[in-house]
Amino acid sequence: MTPLRLSLLVAMAKNRVIGRNNQLPWHLPADLKHFKFLTMGQTIVMGRKTFESIGRPLPGRANIIITRQTDYEAPGAIVVNSLEDALLICEENGSHDSEHFIIGGEKLYRQTIKICQRIYITEIQRDFEGDVYFPEFNRADWEEVQRDKHVSEKDDGLEFHFVVLERKGAVK
Ligand SMILES: NC(=O)c1ccc[n+]([C@@H]2O[C@H](COP(=O)([O-])OP(=O)(O)OC[C@H]3O[C@@H](n4cnc5c(N)ncnc54)[C@H](OP(=O)(O)O)[C@@H]3O)[C@@H](O)[C@H]2O)c1
Repeated sequence: MTPLRLSLLVAMAKNRVIGRNNQLPWHLPADLKHFKFLTMGQTIVMGRKTFESIGRPLPGRANIIITRQTDYEAPGAIVVNSLEDALLICEENGSHDSEHFIIGGEKLYRQTIKICQRIYITEIQRDFEGDVYFPEFNRADWEEVQRDKHVSEKDDGLEFHFVVLERKGAVK
């Protein structure tokens, strides 16, 4: 079995907010495009609330939904009852060059940040109101290998950075 390439993918405001009322607090089409580009053809793993916020399985990707509900149904997606089962499916179905993405929300990020090798983070350079947050983590454990700065044409020129962090010492 090949080692699991587990990455975390998140968009976060300056005050660490990632969501509000089970929605994204901002409208950033460029970030959605970035998300699609990174995840297409790969596996995405998400908590049940994030799945319901998206509203459907995302096409072109294996969608894994984690819930404790044993009768939860989501046609077109794979439903599991634990994080361990989700990771097992990633391991069994992945090929050598597969990348598996944890795509949220807060509850999933809190459980997985310690086991991911890479973080793709869209750093939105403004505070937003919200009710879910990206967990604090020790930046010193991570090497910033990429930062692309962008400004949105809408939203009063909202600035956002596409950042890639690699865990120091991770096998690439
Ligand atoms: N900005 C971003 O990049 C981003 C990305 C994703 C989501 N979000 C936002 O984040 C918010 C949702 O986050 P959230 O923390 O409320 O919810 P979540 O992490 O998406 O989902 C939580 C649910 O997942 C299930 N779950 C989590 N861990 C589990 C485990 N170990 N075993 C079994 N089931 C488990 C449980 O479902 P059951 O209750 O069914 O048992 C739990 O209630 C939304 O506002 C969304 O818009 C933002």
